[in-house]
Order: sequence, then structure tokens, then C-alpha cells
Amino acid sequence: MRARPPKKVIELDVNGDRHELAVEPRTTLLEALRYQLRLTGSKQGCDKGDCGACTVLLDGVPTLSCIFLAIEAQGRRITTIEGLAPLPRVHPVQDAFDLCGALQCGFCQSGMMLSAAALLERNSRPSRAEIREALSGNLCRCTGYTQIFEAVEVACGMRKAPERDERPTTEPGGVEAAKGPAPLSNRSPGAP
Ligand code: FES
Ligand code: FES
Repeated sequence: MRARPPKKVIELDVNGDRHELAVEPRTTLLEALRYQLRLTGSKQGCDKGDCGACTVLLDGVPTLSCIFLAIEAQGRRITTIEGLAPLPRVHPVQDAFDLCGALQCGFCQSGMMLSAAALLERNSRPSRAEIREALSGNLCRCTGYTQIFEAVEVACGMRKAPERDERPTTEPGGVEAAKGPAPLSNRSPGAP
């Protein structure tokens, strides 16, 4: 049996915090995040660059962490879903996904939301075609995508609202929301 390669100590900047960790040269960024830093929001789906469930932002750019070496992520600004917005606040994209019920099992959700957030950083009013293109690397096998695309459009209108209570109260389709939905933490998975 071949000996495992020696580990190397690296430093990663994740969600604004610096972490020192020892990794093998072949350790992926996803493995380092999930199994060493315990940031399990990034999902291990296909583990070969096909599904987008492992998407994180590297210097603001959506990146598939399952095919990106941890060692190569040194010196880069890594954002995972846990750091998309400072707690207890939520990012407008998270808020909009919640409002639109743009999830079912939730497995694709963190990658989907990070790709959407990156899109809105570079294009504050994307067309439906631009949203489809930006999310084309993130696969969802539950929702059929319509509510996801709607959620990104709703998030556009929320981005300037400083507080959750100040966001528009009209839901997609023109339904007037009497009250905003409960915070994410208070809701059951998949609740509309
Ligand atoms: S887990 Fe990385 S693309 Fe599927
Ligand atoms: S894969 Fe289940 S909600 Fe997208």
C-alpha cells in the first residue's frame, strides 16, 4: 500500500475568519470546509463538478469546491452559505428564496443562492435569461426552477431594503402578504 502524502499546513480565509489547517495535497476545498472546518452548508453532491451543490464564492466568483484544491484557495476570500450575510440577518437572496418557497429538499439551495448572490453583485437587474444562464451550473431535481428564478427576481427588489420588515409586502403573482414570513430559523423546511 502506498503511503499517504504528508500534510501541509495552510491558511484559509473563510467568511472573514482565518483558519489554519493541515491538509493533504489532494484535499479538496469542499472536504476542508465540510470535514475540517465543519461548515456543512456546502453540499457534497456528485463530487465531480456536475451539480453545483458544492458552490462557494472565491473572491466573489462562484466556484465548484469539490474540484478545487484547498491548497489553491490560500490567499483567496472564501464565502460559504454560512457567511453570505452576517447573523442574525439574512441576505436578500435567502429572504427571497424563503418568501417564494424556492426549495424542497434544500440540497441545491446553498449553491443556488451563492450563484444568485454573485449574479446580483455584478448585475442588479438581470433578465430571466441572464438568471437562467447564471444558475445553469446549479442543478435542482425537486423544484422545476420556476420558483427559483422568481426568487432571484424578487431578491433584486429587496437588495436595498436595510431590514427584513421594510421589504415589499407583495408576493410574486401580486398576492398581498399581510405580514412577512417568519424568520428562516422558525420555519419548517419547504414551508412557503
Ligand atoms: S458536488 Fe461539486 S459539482 Fe456536484
Ligand atoms: S435539489 Fe431538492 S430543492 Fe433543489
